[in-house]
Amino acid sequence: MPAIVIVGAQWGDEGKGKATDHLGSQVDYVVKFNGGNNAGHTVVIGQEDGSSEKYALHLLPSGILTPSCTPVIGNGVVVDIDVLFEEIEGLEARGIDTSRLKVSANAHVIADYNRTLDKVTERFLGSRRIGTTGRGIGPTYADKMNRIGIRVQDLFDEKILTAKVEGALELKSQILTKVYNRRAPDVQQTVEELLAHADRLAPYVCDTTLLLGQALDRDEVVLLEAGQATLLDVDHGTYPFVTSSSATAGGACTGSGIPPTRIDQVIAIAKAYTTRVGEGPFPTELHDESGDFLRNAGHEFGTTTGRPRRCGWFDTVITRYAARVNGVTDFVLTKLDTLTGLEQLPVAVAYDVDGVRHDEMPVNQSDFHHAKPIFEYLPGWTEDISGCRDFADLPKNAQDYVTFAEEHSGARISVVGVGPAREQAVVRHALR
Ligand code: IMP
Repeated sequence: MPAIVIVGAQWGDEGKGKATDHLGSQVDYVVKFNGGNNAGHTVVIGQEDGSSEKYALHLLPSGILTPSCTPVIGNGVVVDIDVLFEEIEGLEARGIDTSRLKVSANAHVIADYNRTLDKVTERFLGSRRIGTTGRGIGPTYADKMNRIGIRVQDLFDEKILTAKVEGALELKSQILTKVYNRRAPDVQQTVEELLAHADRLAPYVCDTTLLLGQALDRDEVVLLEAGQATLLDVDHGTYPFVTSSSATAGGACTGSGIPPTRIDQVIAIAKAYTTRVGEGPFPTELHDESGDFLRNAGHEFGTTTGRPRRCGWFDTVITRYAARVNGVTDFVLTKLDTLTGLEQLPVAVAYDVDGVRHDEMPVNQSDFHHAKPIFEYLPGWTEDISGCRDFADLPKNAQDYVTFAEEHSGARISVVGVGPAREQAVVRHALR
């Protein structure tokens, strides 16, 4: 049985949580394989009485909301243990059973000194800042690569943990005190903070690579859910304005221990327009009332930090690139309903870089920084599409918009989102 990967096609916040949730009842395992609590999934689930429940998740895989599925935090994730238990407690208080959760013993843990370093580094960078979420993600991945990271399994041996914290702080205390003028973190206090939830964490921890390999051998379906998105990937994104993990389909393998030969479907989620939080280039960004329209109609304010998102038109150079680097088999186009009421819909099909047309992503970062979109203009629609469930129900101009986006994006658009609730979707090709 296959493993399926879900990735974001743009700069994040495309609605991956909803797509994962959509598939939730058909999959046995949902695995988060990269990132940490820098992510934010909002999932809205319609209730039998017609009301709806909204869940904002940062660290837990959205599969936690589907009782039949086992949510897994893979080895590629960086875990803030306090946040993990805040989310677990929040869901338990709302009657959601979280006991099925599995956490990789090899996942790295975010220590308080790395949260501090994330924030002070950003301040230090000033105008060169990345606009991180301040959750300690970058410094924790840096520690992993520098081989001074703390892993989940270290929390079950105080002696080893203390030695590792001591080792990590040897250099970091110098940086914090001498470069940033902060107090040196105390080893014992850090160890105590890290151990605060260790006993509660223990029952969730296992060898998730073995668990998932055996699940696939039993013909069970494993869904690998990316945090962030293609253009925030540390290798394939708009470096250095990226996150510090592998958010593309390749990262699903290293971040979970599932080999590439077992993955046979890659679903990319793309918003019907484009958004970005934080700094960095964004060719179709709008600084006028159309941008405000998208921000307000699409509620484009960060789930994690509350920051207003930068908004712009749909960009097929980016979705084509995402199709290529991820090997996308299906796109899910989300939030088409947000575009309702706009008279004309520009869609970028290429860039003009200093008078030269680029049909594909420019390889040079400075070219991307001053790429000007070359638009084609499509007519909009005014009809409310939130109740549409069949492609044929959509107004002709909305159908044409989807078909145009598909033709220029390099993979079929299988599902179109027309509203926030789980059932508000037009399915053109069943995802499974
Ligand atoms: P970090 O992941 O906190 O290090 O932030 C690095 C960059 O990734 C910043 O531009 C963040 O705004 C962006 N980022 C991180 N997580 C998300 C996400 O879930 N959605 C959108 N942007 C994100």
